[in-house]
Amino acid sequence: MKSVAVLPGDGIGPEVTTAALDVVDTLGLPLDLRFGEIGWECWRQEGNPVPQRTWKLLDETDTCLLGAITSKPLREAEAELAPELRGTGLTFVSPVVQLRQRLSLYANVRPVIDLVDRRFDFTVIRENTEGLYAGFDVHGLDDALWNVVREHPNAQASGPEASSVTLRLQTEFGMDRLLAYGFDYARSHGYTRLTLVDKPNVLRHSSNHLRERLELRAAAHPDIETEILNVDAVALWMVRRPERFGVLVAENMFGDILSDLGAGVMGGLGLAPSGNIGDRGSYFEPVHGSAPGMAGQDRANPMAMLLTVAQMLDHLELPVPADDLRAAVRTVAARRTTVTYDMGGTSGTRRVAQAVAGELAVSEGESSAPDDVVDRLARLDTASVSDALDSLGVGGGLAGIAARVPGARAAGRAFTVTYRPVDGAEPGFRNAANYLDDVPEGSFVVVDNAGSTACTNWGSLLTRLAQRRGVRGTALHGSARDLAEIRAAAYPLFSTGVTMVSGKNRVELAATGQDVIIGDVTVRPGDIVVADDNGALVVPAEHATEVADRAERVERTEGAIAEAVDTGLRLDEARRRFGYAKPWDDGAAQPSRA
Ligand code: NAD
Ligand code: IPM
Ligand code: MN
Repeated sequence: MKSVAVLPGDGIGPEVTTAALDVVDTLGLPLDLRFGEIGWECWRQEGNPVPQRTWKLLDETDTCLLGAITSKPLREAEAELAPELRGTGLTFVSPVVQLRQRLSLYANVRPVIDLVDRRFDFTVIRENTEGLYAGFDVHGLDDALWNVVREHPNAQASGPEASSVTLRLQTEFGMDRLLAYGFDYARSHGYTRLTLVDKPNVLRHSSNHLRERLELRAAAHPDIETEILNVDAVALWMVRRPERFGVLVAENMFGDILSDLGAGVMGGLGLAPSGNIGDRGSYFEPVHGSAPGMAGQDRANPMAMLLTVAQMLDHLELPVPADDLRAAVRTVAARRTTVTYDMGGTSGTRRVAQAVAGELAVSEGESSAPDDVVDRLARLDTASVSDALDSLGVGGGLAGIAARVPGARAAGRAFTVTYRPVDGAEPGFRNAANYLDDVPEGSFVVVDNAGSTACTNWGSLLTRLAQRRGVRGTALHGSARDLAEIRAAAYPLFSTGVTMVSGKNRVELAATGQDVIIGDVTVRPGDIVVADDNGALVVPAEHATEVADRAERVERTEGAIAEAVDTGLRLDEARRRFGYAKPWDDGAAQPSRA
């Protein structure tokens, strides 16, 4: 049994912590969770954001999970103190900085991973106890400091009282343990490059000192390529070519800034996890803060906290549930139907956490294989899936059904719905769409209204409900309206036509769960609909794995040809070399030896 101090903290901290712990509950792990207090309320009421009882709790537990803490600047900190504590000389020191320094948690490990497309995977390891955060930050200089800066013309013009100074402390003790951690981390996580981020062209002496320590350490790690880059250049390359990085080691403040940038590259602060690690202690927290403007609204993305929990489980040597948890977060992120506003969705904190818990349940149960194939198909272009179906002599394209939301793509098991026209004599609405309440999560709704473009069977209200229910997309053999809202919701909608005319008193529900025939394609419940900008097609359930295999090979072959053409090869030669005649064959995408 491992014990974890849970400190939910301020703002959105408690919401994301509760949501993540609900997911952890479903894993049934041997964890003893012990709750404690930290943060702004402790400061206001007790004049101490990390009360003594919290230090004690940290001392008694194996690690700590922290939500987020509000840290306000000097003036607000004084003003918000309880009246009897004001003017007593209490000073607010950021609680997270206190934890890091007092517990000697010198490595702040912040992975930056492309969750969905896996284009990049690097980790910022930030020095966490010294550098510009060492605590030497003063306004009004004593003689000792004044002697250091007095020759500077601006200091002369201002005088000691009107000058302020922050010192960047770098010690061999601090640098050596951080570099050792960085190299170990690179090796144990399979990274082959370590980039030291600094500013050697300006901070010439301290940077040179760090460089010397790096060179000593690097000599013992010939398997890891090392480099020193200027921090400004790293900011550029992190945006332009994030895939070039492995481990980045950085001074405290540089690492603070770069890890928020990394979070941006990942898709936002709602996704970025972190761990603060020392030789005898640790605590884990999302990179984001307490986001007070969003607190209490069930809007915050819980994924950063869920990935933080996974990082904590790794540290507690529970890697199996950690990997499952990460995979479940990836699946929910990739599907995009149940995500928070920052990822383009409309779901709340709790709903997203439930979806992640749902994925974990699926991956534990025996039904994981069929959903696996849906996820594989979801990552493929319909063009490649169509080629793969062709190669098997199976038709699949839903003729005349076009993409209505640019860029939207989805795959899911068909939930079929059949409509029939009603006699216009009766004016009442028929509530034909009430079936939507019972569509299972992960379905792709296929509605057959005989290809009618005379009235609609889908609009903004159904879109919202579908998104809330985790429906992956809708293909209408019929028409839709409210396209602006549906596009704003980024909902994958495909239809024969678009019109404004309501279907409310023009159609009624004839059946759900029956085969539907669209053009020359029969859609059976449970077949897999795959759809993107090209349109929608149907993969018969029994061919799904073979189609995914073949389509993946098609994409590999085409990628290899495109790359070869980019390097100047003729198209005919590239196609011959990579076996374009049958791109779905095993062995395609390898250059033929002929
Ligand atoms: P912040 O990280 O709290 O929020 C910045 C913005 O990022 C938010 O407005 C929001 O748009 C977005 N965001 C953050 N978390 C999100 C989530 N889970 N889902 C979706 N969007 C999210 O940074 P801030 O506004 O600069 O700071 C607010 C407070 O938090 C300050 O008091 C600051 O000192 C503190 N802070 C604490 C920590 C920590 O506890 N480790 C870290 C950073 C900031
Ligand atoms: C972080 C935060 C903290 C920091 C603040 C809240 C003191 O921004 O964890 O990145 O600057 O280290
Ligand atoms: Mn920060």
